[in-house]
Amino acid sequence: MIRKILYSPHPVLRRVAAKVQKFDDTLQVLVSDMFETMYAEKGAGLAAPQIGVSLRVIVLDVSYATENPCHKIAVINPEIIAAQDSKEFNEGCLSVPGYYEKVTRPSKVVITGFDVNGSPFEIHAEDLLADCLQHEIDHLNGKLFIDMLSPLKRGMARRKVEKYKREHQLD
Ligand code: NI
Repeated sequence: MIRKILYSPHPVLRRVAAKVQKFDDTLQVLVSDMFETMYAEKGAGLAAPQIGVSLRVIVLDVSYATENPCHKIAVINPEIIAAQDSKEFNEGCLSVPGYYEKVTRPSKVVITGFDVNGSPFEIHAEDLLADCLQHEIDHLNGKLFIDMLSPLKRGMARRKVEKYKREHQLD
């Protein structure tokens, strides 16, 4: 089922999401809905708080731009255990529609987490995948990429979101 995306400055986007405790059917449905919503909205990643669920769950698919064979990734309770180097990435966010800007982040990260069945795994990511993972994990901590920008640019982003909501008659 496609879920409704929450837009900045919705308060749920600013909450620190809770860890998933049960790897049950509800989680399977959540992850499947998150993929469906992400593809429908043409996003490269989605975090559960963006659909109003304050849990530490992210989904990603950066296959449009990389040769990464494992294109569909869901990580439950992800943690960044190492980060190095630094690079400028052009980011956007489904919760900040219509706005894109460059931010600087580590370009190599190691992430640990669990799959939807509760099995632990590790991802060694670089470039776009590393960027996307960090952006989605930020969502779980109540952070948005626009927080890294100047007040001037944050103001521009806010106006873009307002315009988008007006044009699409969203609340
Ligand atoms: Ni986002």
